[in-house]
Amino acid sequence: MPTIRRLSAAEARAAIPDLCEVLADCVNGGASVGFMQPYTLADAEPYWRSVAEAVADDATLLLVAEVDGKIVGTVQVGAAQMPNQPHRGDLKKLLVHRSARGRGLARLLMEMAEQEAARRGKTILVLDTATGSDAEAIYPRLGWERVGVIPDYALWPEGGLCATTFFYKRVA
Ligand SMILES: CC(C)(COP(=O)(O)OP(=O)(O)OC[C@H]1O[C@@H](n2cnc3c(N)ncnc32)[C@H](O)[C@@H]1OP(=O)(O)O)[C@@H](O)C(=O)NCCC(=O)NCCS
Repeated sequence: MPTIRRLSAAEARAAIPDLCEVLADCVNGGASVGFMQPYTLADAEPYWRSVAEAVADDATLLLVAEVDGKIVGTVQVGAAQMPNQPHRGDLKKLLVHRSARGRGLARLLMEMAEQEAARRGKTILVLDTATGSDAEAIYPRLGWERVGVIPDYALWPEGGLCATTFFYKRVA
């Protein structure tokens, strides 16, 4: 059975090696999540260090999915920083290692992320994802509303322009 849990800053720091493995696997598997190929574990480490600091600053919620004590999935909710958006959260980096996909981990991570965000007073969550990706097909199944597509928003990790689809969900 998978375990889904929220990490403290200290737990996030300790989890960096596992989180690097998940992120590197996703990027090298073709996921457009902010980084370019080739992408190594060492490339991922500064990113996860910055996430652990954001957790320490209470600016990010970091959730992980564990199977047999090993982290194989993760998601974040970043708090919107502007004073006029205390009720908004940015859902980020839903990542499941390729070896653990198709078993409902993303659904469990998203459900807990939405609950934890709502418990902290968030009423609206926003996310964006690569148009045409596996992830784009998943969010409507989880109750997210598709807003629209921006062309040429980012690059695929192997290169080439990639459109991005924006979604939102009310969680109050
Ligand atoms: C997107 C991703 C997180 C899904 O993880 P997962 O654990 O395999 O997803 P789940 O098994 O929880 O599936 C969630 C739902 O989506 C559906 N689904 C899963 N993969 C799908 C696919 N390729 N196409 C269509 N639907 C899919 C499942 O059937 C399930 O729906 P249901 O619960 O109504 O049956 C995973 O593929 C991934 O890490 N991709 C790379 C990173 C990425 O692109 N992240 C998104 C960043 S915005």
